[in-house]
Amino acid sequence: MFTTEFASLIAVIGGIGDLGSAIARRLAKVGEREVIGSQNPAKAVETAIRLTAATARSVGAAGNIQTELVILTEPLASQEAALRKIGEAIAAKNVVDTTVPLVPPKVKRVRLPPEGSAAVRAQKILVDGIHVVSAFQNTAAHNTAAHKLVTDGVVDRDVLALGKDKLARYSVVRLVGACGLRILNTGTLVKSTAAEPLTPSLNFINKQDTVDGSGIRITGIKC
Ligand SMILES: NC(=O)c1ccc[n+]([C@@H]2O[C@H](COP(=O)([O-])OP(=O)(O)OC[C@H]3O[C@@H](n4cnc5c(N)ncnc54)[C@H](OP(=O)(O)O)[C@@H]3O)[C@@H](O)[C@H]2O)c1
Repeated sequence: MFTTEFASLIAVIGGIGDLGSAIARRLAKVGEREVIGSQNPAKAVETAIRLTAATARSVGAAGNIQTELVILTEPLASQEAALRKIGEAIAAKNVVDTTVPLVPPKVKRVRLPPEGSAAVRAQKILVDGIHVVSAFQNTAAHNTAAHKLVTDGVVDRDVLALGKDKLARYSVVRLVGACGLRILNTGTLVKSTAAEPLTPSLNFINKQDTVDGSGIRITGIKC
């Protein structure tokens, strides 16, 4: 049943987009309660209804949301404005930032901001007490929605989680791990300066080798 009433939940901002709706779908399937946030309320409702139907779970849509966790899935162009709204309007403790700093139409390489990475920039924009965890930059949206954790005994691909606050990082690792993705605690936020630039290389591989969404996998870890 579609709903707009929740006690505690996860907000997916930019959730009508490719990555946001993929993450929302994944979380809804394992019973997490979510709302889709968008500048376009009608489309947010439409997406929430679609996800509700696809997952047989309740997904809602809302503007100002009181929630412990926000997942931000917007491009670099709107990252700052979205974060400022999150800082003002949402009582979040943790924010998952998925931004790859690309500036269309030139998307063959990242444009790391002066702060070092999009994630570090996000942390600087947000008020003290809100912790940023960087994740999902190296996983294509359709794979995030659909891929299995293990295929023929081999981990399909990894999501990296980076954040300054250990508790925030662990809680994101637990949440994402529970929905069937292998997510690795990869250390502090400053390392996002290495993770974010990998994405254009993956896009290059996809194009050159006609791969349907390449990803990264860290070896040497038993799954
Ligand atoms: N797609 C992928 O496979 C993928 C994989 C890894 C990482 N990422 C990263 O995840 C983030 C989201 O990617 P996406 O492909 O899901 O993005 P998207 O579908 O193009 O856009 C997501 C949402 O961002 C808002 N938005 C888009 N362009 C905007 C603009 N110029 N100004 C203001 N708001 C804008 C819109 O939200 P409103 O409805 O609120 O307007 C839109 O629904 C990006 O930073 C991307 O680099 C994407």
